[in-house]
Amino acid sequence: MDAFKLIINGSKRLKNNNISSHQLDSEILMSKALSVTREKLLTNLEKNIDNDIAKKFDDLIYRRSKREPIAQILEKKEFWSKDFLINDKILIPRPETELLVEKLSQVFKNKKLFILDIGTGSGCIILSILSELFYSNGIALDISPHAIKLAQANANMHKLTSKVKFLRRSLDSIHGKKFDLIVSNPPYIITKDIKNLAVDIKTYEPKLALDGGNDGLDVIKKVIYKSKSILKIKGMLALEIGNEQFKKVSIILKRNNFRVKHLVKDYRQNIRCILSVLEKWENLSFSSWIIIEEEISDLGHKKVTSEEGMVRSAQTEVVASIMEI
Ligand SMILES: C[S@@+](CC[C@H](N)C(=O)[O-])C[C@H]1O[C@@H](n2cnc3c(N)ncnc32)[C@H](O)[C@@H]1O
Repeated sequence: MDAFKLIINGSKRLKNNNISSHQLDSEILMSKALSVTREKLLTNLEKNIDNDIAKKFDDLIYRRSKREPIAQILEKKEFWSKDFLINDKILIPRPETELLVEKLSQVFKNKKLFILDIGTGSGCIILSILSELFYSNGIALDISPHAIKLAQANANMHKLTSKVKFLRRSLDSIHGKKFDLIVSNPPYIITKDIKNLAVDIKTYEPKLALDGGNDGLDVIKKVIYKSKSILKIKGMLALEIGNEQFKKVSIILKRNNFRVKHLVKDYRQNIRCILSVLEKWENLSFSSWIIIEEEISDLGHKKVTSEEGMVRSAQTEVVASIMEI
């Protein structure tokens, strides 16, 4: 049978399973089975398909008919005009998150920043920002070992390994570094709402990347509390949030000395990203500055080894920031 007929059959099967993008998906899956681009496939639809490829295509159509996301079947997703490797252990990068990257690239154009990405997943945010902000570098954390492995592979693929260090760590474990910019797209779905998400998401994407606790704000709050002690004064916290979380999150930000500076709306006019600046530190305790990450010293940031040195460097920063105000 030729490619055209197989694609039509595949499309019908997907349509019968209520997949609205049935035609496009069928074409993409035939391209995957043939290992050619979709463009090449579409100029060669009369090509006769041998049995092995037809079987491969049939398996891919079956997976999609069960609502497995196309990106997981292809094991890659385009984000900010780059391909990112993905799998079923990490969140598939979303177009809304590109809006965050776009805003940050505009705001910090040509700046030299030290950036922290909390909950990096595929690494799509930090790697996209670093590809725009040539002079910057950073650290990215995730508690999922799968995420860290994949993010590292993506950094390799995009030749950005010298600019970013990926650490398998919880955000609670970062101390003593002063970042210019902290970015995070934390899990923010209310636990009891997860069961109501589309099958593609609730069945195939990891709960760790979705579950924001009883009010959806568990990790967002942690990110805000942590950020106020590891950001520089006037440093920026850039958060992606859920559809209806703006009011609650902006109150938490204000209570924690952040001033909202930019908002980013999605294509449906919902506020989805909040960029806020840290106005002041509070309850500054030098003992909380003691831990410096040996692992990140190779990024070229000054490593302070003695406790005395730590206190001195902390004091210098406080004086500098008071003068700045
Ligand atoms: C919504 S996903 C975002 C992934 C990626 N940044 C993106 O935008 O596509 C949230 C990520 O946060 C990670 N995560 C959840 N709790 C965390 C914590 N306490 N510390 C660090 N990472 C965490 C999850 O493993 C997941 O990869």
